[in-house]
Amino acid sequence: MPVITFANPKGGAGKTTAALLLAIELAGQGKRVAILDADPEQWISQWAALPGKPESIRIVKGANEEALAAQIEVEHARADAVIVDLAGTAGRVVARAIGASDLVVIPTQGAAMDAKGGAKAVRLVRHQERMTRRTIPYAILLTRTNAAVTSRAMRRVQDYLATAGIPVFETTIVERAAYRDLFDIGGTLAGLDPAQVSNLDKAQANARAFAAEAMGRLETPASVPAPRARPGPIVAVPSVRRASPHPTPPPSSYTSPDRCRSASPDRP
Ligand SMILES: Nc1ncnc2c1ncn2[C@@H]1O[C@H](COP(=O)(O)OP(=O)(O)O)[C@@H](O)[C@H]1O
Ligand SMILES: [Mg+2]
Repeated sequence: MPVITFANPKGGAGKTTAALLLAIELAGQGKRVAILDADPEQWISQWAALPGKPESIRIVKGANEEALAAQIEVEHARADAVIVDLAGTAGRVVARAIGASDLVVIPTQGAAMDAKGGAKAVRLVRHQERMTRRTIPYAILLTRTNAAVTSRAMRRVQDYLATAGIPVFETTIVERAAYRDLFDIGGTLAGLDPAQVSNLDKAQANARAFAAEAMGRLETPASVPAPRARPGPIVAVPSVRRASPHPTPPPSSYTSPDRCRSASPDRP
């Protein structure tokens, strides 16, 4: 069953958080999920040690390159979804996992430095595509976005990604206390107390939208491959709006970051 890898050589990009959100969402839908915890920090394994882990989520601690490849094979055969949470490096384990993936999610925060990490992850995917001689669907997932406004830095990152023809999730992962609480309290979003956690319903809706889009990207992999333009340095990209298809932004340049515009060439 599908192997979905979360990769970005930059630490703190939101890989582990997004990986866990997808896992608990799929488990909530009754799917058997295996999470390969290939991050030396083992945050997912620490979460699993807390109470409330759904029975249908198996945690497999990732080891070296060879072990990871074998683990992916085994879990691929018996789980409904295999989620690989990678370390913030660009080593051989990362390359191997990307090469074995049906979808690579590249969580990226909305600032130039973070987008550079995202661009590096894109290059890793494209390298693995050449090595394995197959298309590996991937998309940037903007993370820790502001629920109220889209910052100028975020806009620049979105423009840069669109200009470079890099696919981007329409759903962004909003900054939510609930997502942090998961790692403190354990369990799932449904298990958190709405009286204790602010905007829990919004956090749940956001996670659901992300999971739906991720699964959709698996079902309809990019029919048109992403342009192979090499992204230039993010900082050099001027914050010029593209002429279309984006209409005039709403008043006071407010846009909802839960659904950002798509830069994916397969999504008109
Ligand atoms: N959407 C989010 N809302 C709130 N906190 C977040 C969110 N995404 C990540 N964080 C926090 O940011 C830090 C880094 O996130 P993490 O998912 O561990 O990134 P990575 O796995 O890429 O290193 C963690 O403390 C995490 O709790
Ligand atoms: Mg991590």
